[in-house]
Amino acid sequence: MYIGVPRETKSGERRVALVPETVAKLVAKGHSIAIESGAGSAAQMPDAVYEAAGAEIKPDAQSVCEAADFVLKISAPLPEEMRLLRPGTVLIAQMMPLIDPETAGRVAETGATSFSMDLMPRITRAQSMDVLSAMSTVSGYRAVLQGALLAERFFPMLMTAAGTIPPAKVLILGAGVAGLQAIATARRLGAVVQAFDVRPASREQVESLGAGFLSLPVTDGEGEGGYARAMADDEEARERQALEEPVRKADLVISTAMVPGRRAPLLVSREMVAAMHPGSVVVDLAAETGGNCELTQPGEVVVSDGGVIIDGRLNLPSTMPLPASQLFSRNLVTFLDHMFKVWVGEAKAKGDLGDLPQDDEILRSTCVSFGGNVVHQPTAERLAAVQR
Ligand code: NAI
Repeated sequence: MYIGVPRETKSGERRVALVPETVAKLVAKGHSIAIESGAGSAAQMPDAVYEAAGAEIKPDAQSVCEAADFVLKISAPLPEEMRLLRPGTVLIAQMMPLIDPETAGRVAETGATSFSMDLMPRITRAQSMDVLSAMSTVSGYRAVLQGALLAERFFPMLMTAAGTIPPAKVLILGAGVAGLQAIATARRLGAVVQAFDVRPASREQVESLGAGFLSLPVTDGEGEGGYARAMADDEEARERQALEEPVRKADLVISTAMVPGRRAPLLVSREMVAAMHPGSVVVDLAAETGGNCELTQPGEVVVSDGGVIIDGRLNLPSTMPLPASQLFSRNLVTFLDHMFKVWVGEAKAKGDLGDLPQDDEILRSTCVSFGGNVVHQPTAERLAAVQR
């Protein structure tokens, strides 16, 4: 197969869909790889390293996509990139159709078949293809480092000749993949960590990382597929009330609470921020889907009237582009391997992709458009919930 990787064009995106390590793996399996010149340079991977791994370097995205059977990207193509897709091309990217159904529609109009990595089912055999987990791991780690720098204080307890400095108090809201990584990172820095999640199963995971699990009167939040369910307004209000004291006492709050396809729950109100001490920090990893903190400005670091710093910067994985690209591209290659095994291999050799094997949960769940038709359409109720 001919696999092409154009440079990412979304503002601030520094990751790249394949790294030299995964290029070499695909070349060893007999595939041809085309990389747009400069695609890896923001992630410290120059063209020469890709060439050494067996890729062909192309001058622009057009020449990459012209010949490619498969186009691999991190983010969905921007409107101006749609013309690069042809009927019959297979696009694999993180398209977020639950948040952005329009893009899925535009891809379908090009006649391309597309798969969105963020729709990967949370099942054991798809774990190695799960970009949401891989990227959440990066975000959780990075959030603690950003928060620690903004808080401008020691995280461990220091006993010095000049006296003792108490450890920082870190509160993690939402103990999924990002939250657990944040707990582990904050603990390694020496902070005293508390965490909360509405899924009861998370208690054991939080405690096994050496953090305290808050006992709050909101505990039955398990929804479908291992995710949290959306809380009713009164439940969310009860949770906020129960979080007032732990938030007030924290030096750093890292909020990661999300519900797929919905606006993030509001867990830290304006009043709760006003009660925090000056210099304390909220890093809101849910900023992309509305934020867990009422004062979060997506993409910005703001300071409240009371001197609390609220960090709503987006796309944290892009701030660590090398490891984030490594993880993302390994997920992609495992997904490609799966796709070749259960679907593409013979069909494509005959010049016809035929139908998707409907009994394959991984392909069926991730397919967004097939031969010009939108396959994955969020329901009106889901869209209303996201746009709330
Ligand atoms: P996510 O990014 O959708 O949400 C982050 C966390 O926020 C979740 O733990 C969720 O329970 C929590 N949350 C939602 N609403 C909340 C609220 N009102 N208050 C407090 N916390 C709230 O979730 P993520 O990190 O993607 O993982 C969700 C689940 O999926 C976890 O149980 C994880 O272990 C599981 N998982 C399973 C995988 C597999 O089997 N392949 C792979 C990755 C995750």
